[in-house]
Amino acid sequence: MTADLTVTTTSTSYPVVVQAGALASLPTRLEALGLRGALWLVCDGAVETLYAAPVAERLRGAGFVVHTYSVPPGDASKSSARLSDLHTWMIADGVERRDAVLALGGGVVGDLAGFAAATILRGIAVVQMPTTLLSMVDAAVGGKTGINHALGKNLIGAFHQPRLVLADTDTLSSLPPHALREGWAEVIKHGVIRDAGLFVELERIAEARGWDNARPGGLWDAADAALTATLSGLIRRAVAVKVEVVSIDEFERGERITLNYGHTIGHAVEQLSHYGLLHGEAVAVGMHAEARIAQLMGMCDGDLVERQAALIHAYGLRTALPAYDVDAILALTMRDKKVQAKKIRWVLPAAIGTVQVRDDVPEELLRRALQA
Ligand code: GLY
Repeated sequence: MTADLTVTTTSTSYPVVVQAGALASLPTRLEALGLRGALWLVCDGAVETLYAAPVAERLRGAGFVVHTYSVPPGDASKSSARLSDLHTWMIADGVERRDAVLALGGGVVGDLAGFAAATILRGIAVVQMPTTLLSMVDAAVGGKTGINHALGKNLIGAFHQPRLVLADTDTLSSLPPHALREGWAEVIKHGVIRDAGLFVELERIAEARGWDNARPGGLWDAADAALTATLSGLIRRAVAVKVEVVSIDEFERGERITLNYGHTIGHAVEQLSHYGLLHGEAVAVGMHAEARIAQLMGMCDGDLVERQAALIHAYGLRTALPAYDVDAILALTMRDKKVQAKKIRWVLPAAIGTVQVRDDVPEELLRRALQA
């Protein structure tokens, strides 16, 4: 059994478990955390039968009172109407301060259920149980919760750190291939921003499995136990990067901005595609463009750009920028939440494992990077 990771901020500390079969340990872990009140399990239709029903049954078997609520899959569930419905569900059934919300699913469920937990009775406990690669590596750790507003995504929310993050890597075997693939973008990102060893490990696997990867799920192969165990280990290592960064900077005042590598261009491209590109797919394109910016700035050499591109391709993703108007991309980057005093703060790689924040990238250079 691998040791738990721990997020430690100035205000709190909590375990982050990344392990095959981790869901089985939920009842004992809740007991150990002193969470003995009623449990409000929120999931989405994609995981309801597969994981939520057995989890609820196991918890009831251990003596817990469990209420369940399933939201429709997709970003539309991050709405004020759905949030209000969750509040009504909990209030009508007698929610108490000592209770806990359990968020089981991908990023949408984590954000919505986390925000419901943050706001009901001025805040009750939440346990994040991510079932997608993207949410394991990123969203479930660090306490960002929220919903969308008609004027933009994720504009309403709160930092509400979970009491526990339980990522059962067995759940990835039922994830649709495209959802697995997009998750690798964030894993690669964590290698580039902070863990060169992780990046090299990812390269080593690509070398062994073939660089020209046309497998639908990227590299994941549930039938290959040895490979699956290796990939689980890599996911844990990628999660460790998020754990470190959030521990240093809970409220995004400094270090946490580095997690946005690839996201400035990525978000713009995602929006221009009207969300036809998945988040991870857009981040992969964004990382490539931002590495090119770093190269043109003289911060890194072409070798970094090429190694990163090769890895992105090996894990089943693309690097080519879709043929959008460069002005439209630039206009959207100015709306990025990292803009300060009208200057974009770019997170740019100086080497594999090291990034720097720069607000002095000339527009003409950006255009060259995006047109290349
Ligand atoms: N997803 C970036 C962060 O949690 O800060």
